[in-house]
Amino acid sequence: MTRHPKDQPGKLRLGVNIDHVATVRNARGSAYPDPVRAALLAQQAGADGVTAHLREDRRHIADDDIARLMDRLTIPLNLEMAATPEMQQIALRHVPHAVCLVPEKREERTTEGGLEVAREENRLAHFIAPLREAGCRVSIFIAADKPQIEAAARIGAPVVELHTGAYCDAHAEGRFDDRDAELQRLTEMAAFADSLGLEVHAGHGLTYDTVTPIAALPQIRELNIGHFLIGEAIFVGLPAAMDEMRRLMIEARKGAA
Ligand code: PXP
Repeated sequence: MTRHPKDQPGKLRLGVNIDHVATVRNARGSAYPDPVRAALLAQQAGADGVTAHLREDRRHIADDDIARLMDRLTIPLNLEMAATPEMQQIALRHVPHAVCLVPEKREERTTEGGLEVAREENRLAHFIAPLREAGCRVSIFIAADKPQIEAAARIGAPVVELHTGAYCDAHAEGRFDDRDAELQRLTEMAAFADSLGLEVHAGHGLTYDTVTPIAALPQIRELNIGHFLIGEAIFVGLPAAMDEMRRLMIEARKGAA
């Protein structure tokens, strides 16, 4: 598989998801704010990669955004997409550094669960084969669940991204026992995925308040963070929001070492 150019032993990478810059743009059908401008700013501010989710309904990122990101970014683009023929064609046309397969339901507000890899192993194995041959690092967004991790390894995905949404929701809602149980699951499953030779990423819903225990998990190599960072950028600017997130990630790793 293609290595991440910013890969270093022990380093935790920060991928910045710029979807919600496009959400604001699309709210008025204007040309601004431009998610590509945000991606270039994130790149300049030291992001290790940029993530964008091209949804079937194009509610935020649009096809043209992907084309422009591919043209202008010098850091890796992680294209999140559903495992549909249309998206496969788009990914094969652009060949981004990484493709992250996510489940998608039209009615959901955001990506609610992980992909049910175990349920459609054959189809997904066939789906990712051409992407891998083209040189994309394929990652699968899954719940921290043993059968899903085992299935991801069996279909030949080199990377899994563990869904941190349930952990973050429990924290935000003050359900601290549930939060701690979710964290325990993520801790065990990050180690399990790593033991199968999978590269482990994590993301969804992470904030300054929730990032530290996740960043401290030694097997995790990359965090993908969007909604909170873009929201915080309204108040302090994207570079400052990223700097604080990066600081917390580095501190977490130091604390864990
Ligand atoms: N990782 C994956 C696979 C996602 O689908 C998303 C949301 O698009 C994220 C990370 C980032 O989540 P958030 O925007 O809540 O930080």
